[in-house]
Amino acid sequence: MTELKTQILCDDQNGLEQAASILSDGGLVAFPTETVYGLGADACNGHAVASVYAAKGRPSFNPLIVHVADLETAKRFAQFDKTALDLVGAFWPGPVSLVLPLAKNHGLSELVTAGLDTVAIRIPAHETAQALLKAFDGPLAAPSANPSGRISPTSAGHVSSDMDGIIDAVVDGGKCKVGIESTILKIEDDRVSLLRAGGLPVEAVEACLGHAIAKPQDPKTPQSPGQLQSHYAPNAAVRLNATSVESNEVLLGFGADVKGTVLNLSATGDMIEAAANLFAYMRNIDGIAGVEKSIAISPIPMTGLGLAINDRLKRAAAPRD
Ligand code: TXA
Ligand code: MG
Repeated sequence: MTELKTQILCDDQNGLEQAASILSDGGLVAFPTETVYGLGADACNGHAVASVYAAKGRPSFNPLIVHVADLETAKRFAQFDKTALDLVGAFWPGPVSLVLPLAKNHGLSELVTAGLDTVAIRIPAHETAQALLKAFDGPLAAPSANPSGRISPTSAGHVSSDMDGIIDAVVDGGKCKVGIESTILKIEDDRVSLLRAGGLPVEAVEACLGHAIAKPQDPKTPQSPGQLQSHYAPNAAVRLNATSVESNEVLLGFGADVKGTVLNLSATGDMIEAAANLFAYMRNIDGIAGVEKSIAISPIPMTGLGLAINDRLKRAAAPRD
């Protein structure tokens, strides 16, 4: 990746307008929330979201949390049942993310949801986060602003020391009050389960609902998406590392020198472009393969976003249940 000059922006109107304009252009801006600093990108821009994975060096496409300014905006992206609205009334804005069914015509990049039919969403309570979301006027996908496997940042200085030269800007909004990531609750048909313990104590959630909720160690709790081997598998069978294409196959290519591709993830071998195209192209090529053919996929190098792309392709090619 080319070295960037990472700007440190103040959380005044001028700084926030600059931050919003970088985000609208598809750039990456770290910003404070009450939990930890998030690495923000336009959640509807696949290329911007792919750059988040690249900047973090994430080895897999874990779905990201979508941050919005208010409930009205949240409803464009997720469906809220009564239980969800009760939790929103009690705890938003605040350190809790809700995993909910996607709304129709949501327009989010599939990389944000990692191809799932649910989305994790929250309204952060931090004044600077609120002001930035209003200035940007749209949804921001934001994982914690640290390289994968490193400690989450709770000050602008932490972000700069880890991400300097890798992201476009950091908005300095001081220290994060909560200091640990948001609690994640999944709500399915009014049933609530805890996916991740975090800044909002689970006791507060249970007191609001009036009953206990399923915890990660319970067998009834949904698995976290990264553990699901073949989630979002295409209907057609998948063969990886294909250097040629058979007559009963359609080829999803990568790079300049592949013959017989129906679709190419990136003809120039650009990993960010390939990641941004991955989910949509998997869907398209599955449709093209239909019931007759299977899918062959060119080798993708295991560098940069190649780790996450290959991780996802391996799941798509895994034996089905
Ligand atoms: O406090 C926070 O939550 C911070 C700040 C920046 O908001 N963000 C954060 O994001 O911790 P991240 O990407 O580090 O963690 C997101 C978690 C992941 O464990 C992911 O698996 C889960 O949310 N997640 C996201 N979408 C999901 C979905 N549709 N279903 C289940 N889990 C989901
Ligand atoms: Mg994190």
